[in-house]
Amino acid sequence: MMVDSLDSQSILNQLTRTLLRRYDCGVRPVLNWTSPTLVYIDIIIQSVLDVDGQTQKVTTSIWYRQIWKDEFLVWDPEEFDGITEISLSSDAIWVPDVIISEFVDEGKSPVIPYVYVNSSGIVKNYKPIQVVSACDLEIYAFPFDKQNCTLTFRSWLHSVSEVDLALWRSAEVIANDTREFMNDGEWELLSIPSLYWKMNLADRDYAHIQFNLLIRRRPLLYVVSVLIPSIFLMVVDVTSFYLPPNSGTRITFKTSILLGYTVFRVNLMDEIPATAIKTPLIGVFFAVCMALLVLSLAKSIFVVKLLHHNEKEVKEISTLCLFDLSPEADLLSLTEAQDGIPQLEKVLQEVVSLKLYLQEEENEGTAQADWLALCYKVDKFLFRIYLLILLIYSSTLLFLWSSWSSG
Ligand SMILES: *[C@@H]1O[C@H](CO)[C@@H](O)[C@H](O)[C@H]1NC(C)=O
Ligand SMILES: *[C@@H]1O[C@H](CO)[C@@H](O)[C@H](O)[C@H]1NC(C)=O
Ligand SMILES: *[C@@H]1O[C@H](CO)[C@@H](O)[C@H](O)[C@H]1NC(C)=O
Repeated sequence: MMVDSLDSQSILNQLTRTLLRRYDCGVRPVLNWTSPTLVYIDIIIQSVLDVDGQTQKVTTSIWYRQIWKDEFLVWDPEEFDGITEISLSSDAIWVPDVIISEFVDEGKSPVIPYVYVNSSGIVKNYKPIQVVSACDLEIYAFPFDKQNCTLTFRSWLHSVSEVDLALWRSAEVIANDTREFMNDGEWELLSIPSLYWKMNLADRDYAHIQFNLLIRRRPLLYVVSVLIPSIFLMVVDVTSFYLPPNSGTRITFKTSILLGYTVFRVNLMDEIPATAIKTPLIGVFFAVCMALLVLSLAKSIFVVKLLHHNEKEVKEISTLCLFDLSPEADLLSLTEAQDGIPQLEKVLQEVVSLKLYLQEEENEGTAQADWLALCYKVDKFLFRIYLLILLIYSSTLLFLWSSWSSG
């Protein structure tokens, strides 16, 4: 049957009016009230917009579909020019009150005012939603973390004898459907296993469909911007042990590394998620790096102190000796005993004492050299201990992180 567009329009109008004439959008659309309305649910994850460790919230963008049978919206296509499917205003018909239990914020979901209905009464309500949901985030392994966030769909009011839920596609297909996922962001979608369960509340069963959103963070950004600079600073700190310990340069150098590291950490505060009760391991990593830097600085100070402690003692001894042999005293003694043999004896005495002094000085010199060698040895020993600590620490971390990133 050929009809022009005006006729078709009027037929559409006619059909809509026929369907909605005696329709009450507040009544669950079943002919026999004992039969439940089965609402099919389907989701496609489009992107993970934000994962907030501080407030334990996850924002996801989802293509949500719910499909159910409306027994009042049935017509014979033959009567209406073969129309098998029309769109209706979603305000005009009954829609199930299916919500996500973990909702904490409305998000910025666009309003889709229409639903599709076909001639056998199947209503398709497709809409994109932005879900801001509460999620118990596991931040310990940051930035090698995986998250398991639950989205539980349920009818808020209706028990299972009125509104029941089911999956539109099979659970396996939904679990592995990542083709619409925007895969360039920080998060990688692993899978979305789902589960149907009933909750018993005051003698009534409530149907739930739970989707576990399994996502994994891509760590590269954090490795490049956080871990590698830290490692560089530690390497520079280690190489600074090759500066001579008796010059003050080493301490100055180490102090500036410590300062640089502090500035670096303050800048990174915002990027590292942290909650009041949980700290990621990377936070501990920073604290331990800082502690190691402080330790190495303290060690250098100790070695310098050791060196100078000896020098001071040596000087004190030598000034004491010089005072004993002061030229004024010699002159005085010389003028006092101007005549005879006693003078020669005195000179001899002086010469002997001078010899003794020089010998002592020499001994002092070798003692000082010994002391210096000892200091260098202590320095080397402490350096080795420091390296050992660093090695154990970094290999432990490397092991943990690599097992997390591969597992
Ligand atoms: C409604 O359905 C139930 C069970 O399917 C049946 O026993 C009952 O007779 C039906 N009622 C009507 C009015 O058709
Ligand atoms: C209405 O849609 C459902 C689901 O897509 C389909 O199974 C059914 O065959 C459709 N009915 C008609 C008359 O096209
Ligand atoms: C994710 O969390 C849910 C609910 O806590 C749990 O049942 C499920 O086993 C978890 N999945 C994985 C892979 O850890």
